Amino acid sequence: MVIDSAYQALQDLLWRGRGLGRFRSSRYPERADVRQDLKTSYGFSGDLADIFCDNTGKVVHKWHHFLPIYERHFAPYRNRPIRFLEIGVSRGGSLAMWRKYFGPEAIIFGIDIDPECAAFDGIDGQVRIGSQADPDFLRAVVAEMGGIDIVLDDGSHVMAHIKRTLETLFPLLDPAGVYMIEDLHTAYWRRFGGGFWRRGNFFNYTRQLVDDMHSWYHVTMPKHPVVSDICRSIQIYDSICVLEKGRKVMPLHSQIPSPDGDR
Ligand SMILES: C[S@@+](CC[C@H](N)C(=O)[O-])C[C@H]1O[C@@H](n2cnc3c(N)ncnc32)[C@H](O)[C@@H]1O
Repeated sequence: MVIDSAYQALQDLLWRGRGLGRFRSSRYPERADVRQDLKTSYGFSGDLADIFCDNTGKVVHKWHHFLPIYERHFAPYRNRPIRFLEIGVSRGGSLAMWRKYFGPEAIIFGIDIDPECAAFDGIDGQVRIGSQADPDFLRAVVAEMGGIDIVLDDGSHVMAHIKRTLETLFPLLDPAGVYMIEDLHTAYWRRFGGGFWRRGNFFNYTRQLVDDMHSWYHVTMPKHPVVSDICRSIQIYDSICVLEKGRKVMPLHSQIPSPDGDR
């Protein structure tokens, strides 16, 4: 225990020494450089890159490497009457980006704990004020949306909130829905309830979901069936976790043609 805490304190100290500053977008002061970085680092271009790079309206703040991940998982939902919820509205720019990306038919909602975000209500989507850690509030928002196809959790980034929000919203998601959590580097930071060795680190939870998903092959009871029983894939990227909803079905296997001639 003492060794763990000391190790964690050392991790935090080393992290503070290196700092978030080395990632800052000041390396790319010109918009052209953002576009160039998307292209050279990720081979990414197209509508979403243009919407992000050409934004002249409300501020939207995204890590560059998130854009191709959004595209990969969200593209099938474009120009359809899908129901999209972003947790974390901040300065309103991301809702504007999603409106341009998903098109006029999409039902777009944002929630935020900050009452000032109510100023963005009715512009690019609906904004509701409340905490993602409040399951009753989340359920009321989903009821108002008439269901939900995509969740993007860019809210508090607090480990306990991420988990509670997931366990509330994932069962409410459309049977073929997508749930994305971003900025999960916070899983390594103590002020978000994370830490390299700490139990609260969300990646420990995802590891347990992976174990649950493979419950056919071991003897331990599923730990988070409220999510894992209805999850068909878990994808981890740098700081992003994507869960695709789908029924858990016991796998079958076959040899064809049958080796004993049994047809
Ligand atoms: C990282 S910002 C969102 C940025 C925005 N999505 C963008 O891409 O520009 C995080 C937001 O989450 C909000 N937030 C913090 N704690 C929250 C909570 N418990 N429930 C809902 N929103 C919360 C903050 O007020 C802040 O506006």
